[in-house]
Amino acid sequence: MGKRIIRFGVIGCGLMGKEFASAAARWCHLTDIDAEPRIVAVCDPNPDAAEWFRKQVPGIERTYTDYRELLADPSIEAIYCAVPHNLHERLYADIVRAGKHLLGEKPFGIDKEANAEIQAALAERPDVLVRCSSEFPFYPGAQQIVKWVEEGRFGRIIEVEAGFWHSSDLDPTKPINWKRRIATNGEYGCMGDLGMHVLHLPLRFGWKPASVRALLSKIIPERPDGNDGMAPCETWDNSILACDVKTDDQQFPMLLSMKRIAPGHANTWFIRIQGTELSAEFTTKNPKQVASLPYTPGGQQAWHTVDAPYKSAYGTITGGIFEFGFSDSILQMWAAFCDELANRDRMRQTFRCATPEEAAGSHRVFTAALQSQRSGETVSIDWGN
Ligand SMILES: NC(=O)c1ccc[n+]([C@@H]2O[C@H](COP(=O)([O-])OP(=O)(O)OC[C@H]3O[C@@H](n4cnc5c(N)ncnc54)[C@H](O)[C@@H]3O)[C@@H](O)[C@H]2O)c1
Repeated sequence: MGKRIIRFGVIGCGLMGKEFASAAARWCHLTDIDAEPRIVAVCDPNPDAAEWFRKQVPGIERTYTDYRELLADPSIEAIYCAVPHNLHERLYADIVRAGKHLLGEKPFGIDKEANAEIQAALAERPDVLVRCSSEFPFYPGAQQIVKWVEEGRFGRIIEVEAGFWHSSDLDPTKPINWKRRIATNGEYGCMGDLGMHVLHLPLRFGWKPASVRALLSKIIPERPDGNDGMAPCETWDNSILACDVKTDDQQFPMLLSMKRIAPGHANTWFIRIQGTELSAEFTTKNPKQVASLPYTPGGQQAWHTVDAPYKSAYGTITGGIFEFGFSDSILQMWAAFCDELANRDRMRQTFRCATPEEAAGSHRVFTAALQSQRSGETVSIDWGN
């Protein structure tokens, strides 16, 4: 049987829009999927950004500067939307209400109120599949940890640490951009930029923080504005969130950190789980390796580090001994979205992209973190409706 072709529109043709185009162009890398995206239309008010797609993506039929015109095309089934955070609320809600399936970029709204408006649109259109971009859990080492959590291998959880660190803003001569401004990136700052990546797995595992104490920092106060002047950096550069997790049968500390200024780190995403029966760690700093420490009472406490084979959620042409990287994780995330769109509850594997509920959960945590920063106190997080 032929593959199910999904006709996609891309809204926002910047960094991430191009990443999606590149993943779609590499679909032949996948051996194990019966659905395939076709980018047929794009929208960006910047003509140069849309022009890149015209030149590089053979199947483009139309380019738009107004996303509403793209949404009016009935032949487009699904949208990938990667625009600045202040536009998520309006665009995502309009996409969903137009009946298009959506893979939207995080943080799914500039703040909790914007996220609630997106959730309201979703409630009106339960037939539409909506997922939030978060690719790092698709690394084979992270998938191994997911499997161990699902198998209940850790025993009693002692503590969890997860983070996303990069040094992208250490250089003070780097010009200001929309990510450093509250109006476009939101008051969350680095939490809105990086936090969904960090919370995706904890929330998938049901590890909801009952409270948070946040330490947020602004490190570089101003940057070149591109016009020989300087502009203030308004958003938080780094964040450390000390969370108290309560599940039905466990309570443990979870330390989350999101840093735009972490010297020496290029794009380091990590998760460390310590348990009474197993501890494990995966970091994209060592993308091939996964470390684990199985423990039995009285036994040795020894870390084992192995090169994780290239064993991704979806099969690929790449042999097991080769390395997995960032663009592979994007491709795997896309495969999960297309698989779920084509097969719904009968996906080829069980790890779904981040859900709107998980994105809403991240907003609860970030909003409480801002409150904690303002008051200097620990803030409880309400997980009721
Ligand atoms: N998943 C990841 O690893 C990852 C990495 C970086 C950014 N992101 C997310 O992707 C989104 C976009 O970030 P980016 O780095 O690609 O930004 P970018 O600035 O490179 O691209 C944004 C694009 O949106 C376009 N745009 C602005 N207004 C628009 C409108 N009304 N309609 C259509 N297009 C419009 C801009 O012209 C620009 O080309 C953000 O939500 C960000 O958080 C995700």
